Amino acid sequence: MRSFSAVLIVALLSAASTKSFNYYYETVQAGNESSATPVVLWHGMGDSCCNPISMGSIKRLFENTIIGVYVNSLMLGDNVVTDTTHGFLANMNTLVEQACETIAKDEKLKNGYNAMGFSQGGLFLRAVAQRCPNPPMKNLVSIGGPQQGIYGFPYCPGPTTVCNTVRNLLDLGAYVGFVQNSVVQAQYWHDPYKVDDYKVKNIFLADINNANTFNETYKANLVKLKNFVMVKFLKDNMVVPKESEWFGFYPDNDDSSVLSMEETDLFKHDLIGLKEMKDDGKLHFLAVDADHLRVTKEFLVDEIIKKFFM
Ligand SMILES: *[C@@H]1O[C@H](CO)[C@@H](O)[C@H](O)[C@H]1NC(C)=O
Ligand SMILES: *[C@@H]1O[C@H](CO)[C@@H](O)[C@H](O)[C@H]1NC(C)=O
Repeated sequence: MRSFSAVLIVALLSAASTKSFNYYYETVQAGNESSATPVVLWHGMGDSCCNPISMGSIKRLFENTIIGVYVNSLMLGDNVVTDTTHGFLANMNTLVEQACETIAKDEKLKNGYNAMGFSQGGLFLRAVAQRCPNPPMKNLVSIGGPQQGIYGFPYCPGPTTVCNTVRNLLDLGAYVGFVQNSVVQAQYWHDPYKVDDYKVKNIFLADINNANTFNETYKANLVKLKNFVMVKFLKDNMVVPKESEWFGFYPDNDDSSVLSMEETDLFKHDLIGLKEMKDDGKLHFLAVDADHLRVTKEFLVDEIIKKFFM
């Protein structure tokens, strides 16, 4: 059993032990609290908003890099336990709506914010950008987010009982009504051999990717982003296929090859504005030669925070 949060923790601790540790804590003057664009974080599966050595550590990384920055690491549910369980068992449309409410109610975010999501959190934050334009999301960073969904669930990073429940339900059928409505991973389950079921019965991913019906608002909202940064892990053993992290996916009825983003209908028909964004230079594809979520603090600071969040 492998854990998303454990993976993140290991990566961060190993980065912290390198000789340039102090470098990460070098603070960069970015103005007063009022002038730094606030940040919203959405954690990955198996993690929670506030684990001091995973998302807590990311929050501190931002605070130590951008002086006075305000960071809201989203808690989905009333407490950390519910927040963790909601990574597996929830209706994502409801959770995204709750996230939108939390963001809208936060006074400190009223002038806009930057967003960073880890793993499935990177997909859910895109849903927030598309569905909830106020306050505006300025830059979106997806760290290993399955933007085209998954077809396979090789590792489950959660409590055994929850994982067994999720596996049994996925086996039963991701597109069976009550499974689809309650299992988070079923809601971004993208079966290339059941294209019609996916389009019609998937209540979340097919909707935000405009796969079945076309919602112009989603596209209009997404193209408002200044930048959309996607990090793919070249040795990812968690997200199948890993190309999903850059909007690649299997062709219909075939899982022996993977289409690049540019070869998918999503892009070719510009269903959510990716083509327009690419033409405008707003899409950024970063690769990390490591397993899922194994980013170092150095990478986050140099390649993402300094380039897009300051
Ligand atoms: C920064 O804070 C100082 C002192 O509180 C204030 O005088 C100044 O106007 C602030 N600058 C900005 C850009 O908010
Ligand atoms: C399109 O998405 C917006 C934002 O979520 C929503 O308010 C609207 O009802 C959707 N339109 C359709 C036709 O589903």
